[in-house]
Formats: sequence, C-alpha cells, structure tokens
Amino acid sequence: MNVLIIGSGGREHAIALKISESKNISKIYCVPGNPGTKKIAVNLDLNIYDHQLISEFCDKQNIDLVVIGPEQPLVEGLSDTLRKNRIKVFGPSKNAAQIESSKSFAKEIMRNANVATAGYSEFYSGEIDKAKSYIKKLGYPIVIKADGLAAGKGVIICNNQDQSDKALSEIFNEKIFGDSGNKIIIEEFMNGEEASVFAITDGKNFVCLPAAQDHKRIGDGDKGKNTGGMGAYAPTPIVTDKLMRKIESQIIMPVLEQMRESGNEFIGCLYAGLMIENDIPKVVEFNCRFGDPETQVVLPVLGGDFLELIYSAASGEINKQSVKYFGGCSVCVVTSSKGYPDKYEKGFEISGLEKSDNEIVVYHAGTKEVENKIVTNGGRVLGVTSVLKNFDLRLAQKKVYDFISNIKFEGMYFRKDIAEKAFKYLE
Ligand code: AMP
Ligand code: GLY
Repeated sequence: MNVLIIGSGGREHAIALKISESKNISKIYCVPGNPGTKKIAVNLDLNIYDHQLISEFCDKQNIDLVVIGPEQPLVEGLSDTLRKNRIKVFGPSKNAAQIESSKSFAKEIMRNANVATAGYSEFYSGEIDKAKSYIKKLGYPIVIKADGLAAGKGVIICNNQDQSDKALSEIFNEKIFGDSGNKIIIEEFMNGEEASVFAITDGKNFVCLPAAQDHKRIGDGDKGKNTGGMGAYAPTPIVTDKLMRKIESQIIMPVLEQMRESGNEFIGCLYAGLMIENDIPKVVEFNCRFGDPETQVVLPVLGGDFLELIYSAASGEINKQSVKYFGGCSVCVVTSSKGYPDKYEKGFEISGLEKSDNEIVVYHAGTKEVENKIVTNGGRVLGVTSVLKNFDLRLAQKKVYDFISNIKFEGMYFRKDIAEKAFKYLE
C-alpha cells in the first residue's frame, strides 16, 4: 500500500513510524512531514488547503490511504473532497469534525446521547451580564471555553469573580481567542484524574486503544498555562479494564450512534478527553483526531498491524483484531522552546540526536533541517519516548529522563514529572 500522511508534528512522526512497520506498506508520503519522518517517508511540500491538488496527487501516486493528522484540514473538509474522488481516508468529514470544532455541537451530541459531562450554558459576545448571572448560580470554580478551535488553549478556569470578570472581558472585548471566542461555553468544574481514550471507528463499530494520560500544563505539578501537551504515558492504570468497558458502553458507543443518527457519521479516531472520579468517567472534550503527544505513547504499545486497523476502518468494515496491546508501556517527554506556550524563538541547533538506544524513540515535532543540521522550528520540539516490552512505568520514566540528558538546544525546557501521577495507582 501507498499511504499519504497529512501533518508535521510528533503525532504524524509516530503514525508514519507505526505504518512503516506494516507488512503491507510500500511507500509513505508525508505532507509536509518533518526531519523525523524524512527517514521513513518521502516528505512533500504540497498546499494542504488545495484539496483538489491533494486529490490529484493521490491519483497520480496510487495512494491507497490518506491519514489526516491535525484537526484543521479535517474541519476544512479535506476528507470530503478526497472521498468524493473515491480516495480512502482515515479521518472524519467536515460535519463530523464539528465534535471538536464546536464545543456546543459536542455538548448537544452528548446531551442527546445521554453521556455524562459537565453542566453548561452557552453565551454569545454581548451577553456578558447573562453570563455573569449564570456564573453566580453555578458557584466557583467554573470553566470558560471558547466554542471554536484554539489549539488546546481556549480554556480558562476561574476560582473567583475577579478572574471570571477578567476572562469574559478578555474573550469578548479583547478577543484573545479571535472569532473562536464569539460564542463561549461556561461549565461546571469537574474534579478527578484525566485520561485520553482513542476509539478507532468505521462509523458503526469501534475499538478502543490503551488509555493514555496527557500532561497539559506547562509546569511540574500541573501548574501554569495550558499547552498542546507536555508529555504522556500509556497505558494509564487509572483506566482499568472494567472502567474501559464502561467508557465504551456509556460514552463511545452512544456518541458514535448519535453522530450517525444526526447525519454526521464519524470515521477515524474519536479522541475522548475524560475526567474520572470514583470510577465514573465524564467527558471533558472530544477531538476528531489522534492526540499529540498521546499517539507517541499509544501506538508503540500496540502489537499487530496498525495500518490494517485504520485501512479497514477507512474502508467501512473495521477489523478489530488487527491490533492488540502487547503488555508493554511507554513514556514520552516533550522538550519545548523557552517561552512556549507564549512567544518563543526558533532556529537553535539541536545536539545529541545521533545517540541511540533500542528502548528510546525520539519523535520530531517542531524541528527543521538547515544545511545538514537539525534546528528548532516550533514550540514543542521533540518527543523523547521510551518503549518497554514489560509494564514497568517507573523504569520507562527513568529511561526517558536518562536519555534526555544527551539532548541539548538553547532554551530547552521539559517537565520533570511526566508519568508521576500513575505511581500512586501502582502501589
Ligand atoms: P479542553 O481544551 O476542553 O480539553 O480543556 C483543556 C483542559 O482544561 C483539560 O484538559 C482540563 O485539564 C481542563 N478542563 C477543561 N474543562 C474542565 C472542566 N469542566 N473541569 C475541570 N477541568 C477542565
Ligand atoms: N494532547 C491533547 C490533544 O491532542 O488535544
């Protein structure tokens, strides 16, 4: 098979690497890819906003499957154009991608499917007074979210009136989230432990991959601003087998059914961001694609043929037996540029990448090749990841931090506590 992967992050590097291990793969193309994918795929600089161009490329190169990594091209309808031209795609239609691009759409699906999530109300810009009286009714803490896409950063948690007044003014008056904040959701704060679950689906049937835990805040101990994700590990002991069955029957199945019934059949990876308290899972958010950096730890612990899984899903008849968790574990620590998630500089040379270890994978994310050197080119630069054959998260954590000491670039930052939250469940 020839496969085309859209995207340039650590997630797409992980997808390319996993697909490259399939017995059925002939050639992988990445658009645009990164210096990591270049080792296993052909990187191409095509305009992903020109859907017709991508479609023509697929015809010319006999592409058997297109995998769309990021949400933006999904939300813009790249899958729809490709499917119209009879090209197989792993990724939802523009309509189905609304489960991520509109929080109020997602809430309505959940309400109709009777799925547990935080109580909420919607407000448009200009409705500040109405919003304030709703907040008074809820009591603090409360959560304010931009309705539209905001790269994982459109959420403000407020503990008192000063904070919520400030947040409302910043979103509606100063437009810190741009048009994504023209409509907001205000919701109850949920306590608990977070987990990410990927459901791979052909629209009707699905299989859930081992659950991961992301670390969204920039600082150790979950302090500071929200980011795209500073590290992850899988599988997380927070999601026991019994809890996973509950997540499948009480969340994934009813949501996929509701999506189908409302004319928004979802084909691809439905990402459920969950809050778990006392073994009760509630939905924080849905994404219409694989998570980043969770993909970097979930795919390495899968045995079997991942390409077969996603190809069968894209073909409308998922083969759930294609992959199976093999008993190992994985920890990914993201190294980021100084300043991220706010402003940061790029172009610093990265050293130590030539070092290797058969239990470590260094995924590239914000990197670029300049005159045979690899330099920083984004906020999240690398995903240094350990993969063990046995489930020993403590050893996997130690391995990854030992290896990171080889890697250096100016202003390199990383969290020192990735996977730490798992340990109390392992005693
Ligand atoms: P989201 O973009 O909706 O995933 O939100 C980003 C992060 O904000 C989540 O990963 C949670 O840590 C936090 N968050 C969002 N909504 C809530 C909520 N209702 N209660 C508690 N924490 C939340
Ligand atoms: N790691 C969070 C996300 O992919 O949205």
